[in-house]
Amino acid sequence: MIFSGLLWYPPAETKIPFMAMVRALLGRANGKINSFEIKLSNYLGVKTCILGNSGRSLLAMLLKELVNLEGNNKTEVLIPGYTCYTVAASVARAGLKIRAYDMDPATLSPDQDSVMRNISDKTLAFIHQHLFGIPSPINGLQAIAEKNGIYLIEDAAQALGGELNGVSLGTIGDFGLYSFGRGKPLPLGSGGAIVGKNNEVLNIIRLGQNPTGSKDLAETMAIRLLSNPFVYGLMEALPLGLGSTVFDPGFQISSMPSLLKKLGQLSLDTLDGLNTHRRKVSSIYSQALRNDYLVPIPAEATPIFTRFPVMASTRRIPREVLRLGIRRMYPRAILDEPQIRPYLSEGNLGTPGASEIAARLITLPTHSAISTQKAEAIATNVSRFLSQ
Ligand SMILES: Cc1ncc(COP(=O)(O)O)c(C=O)c1O
Repeated sequence: MIFSGLLWYPPAETKIPFMAMVRALLGRANGKINSFEIKLSNYLGVKTCILGNSGRSLLAMLLKELVNLEGNNKTEVLIPGYTCYTVAASVARAGLKIRAYDMDPATLSPDQDSVMRNISDKTLAFIHQHLFGIPSPINGLQAIAEKNGIYLIEDAAQALGGELNGVSLGTIGDFGLYSFGRGKPLPLGSGGAIVGKNNEVLNIIRLGQNPTGSKDLAETMAIRLLSNPFVYGLMEALPLGLGSTVFDPGFQISSMPSLLKKLGQLSLDTLDGLNTHRRKVSSIYSQALRNDYLVPIPAEATPIFTRFPVMASTRRIPREVLRLGIRRMYPRAILDEPQIRPYLSEGNLGTPGASEIAARLITLPTHSAISTQKAEAIATNVSRFLSQ
């Protein structure tokens, strides 16, 4: 295409139907104030969910409630060695210590041996994640959590709509976490949800305030417009911190802004379509790339691929590949990040697999602006990058 040299693709999804945003702004969502809660709970097949202004807020508040229940000698939370820094920030915000378990670079799944070696009588909870919406087997971990009397929290921030053995990701563990931030499966701009088997714990979570969220909705609309490949390059060049990973336990905690709830209610029906597209693009990538670069998908799993992970090399990604929306993910493993160090438990044992993932992993875009034709072009470029 004649303009293709001007295009700069975002790495992840920002698409929410524009009319849904306008209708949310005009207050045109039908039904009661808790309609999004009801719709989302029905979608997940659970009785209830709690909404917040972000996934990290809900995780921090959940951990605080769990300590209240279990007593103050439970001071540690076991988290993936390679994950979003916000997970570590939630543990720090709850006043708890971070302990990280290692992961297998070939599958991105927990190294069970490392999980077991990191459990102690101080462990309050274990966080298991489905990175990029790829279902990560959970049975063995459930057994470990049960045997040791620790809570299993399923981090499905990137996995809304994915399934394992026909069950919605996030609803298998004791508690499950979802995010509606930028680049997430349903990218409302911000917001999160938590579900769980113990409704009593969920019901005592208090997030305070009830913001309207006009600014949040305006931001979501602006990002949606500016994510057009013709202008996105400019937006990334501005010092907005876009796409950068920061560790900040001082985040704001509130309930989910009412305008974003309306947007969620009006756009949840588009989620399955977005996920179908992501899977279609991903199947093009997996057919085109050599198997040893790919993360295997477990049997009986329905992944959603918020991004498509490839285990590449540590080589710098050249500009012509960056332009296609290809990025590294989190810059370092949790234990390797200097800002997180003060919040670590002294018992940490090291996570070499997670460090390897941070150094080698690249992600390919799967969002709605990537046509099947574009996906083929991306696969060709990435194959060339991998073979160099
Ligand atoms: C794996 C993972 N867990 C938790 C979160 C926290 O979600 P939020 O950004 O809504 O706080 C995110 C996203 O930032 C994430 O990617």
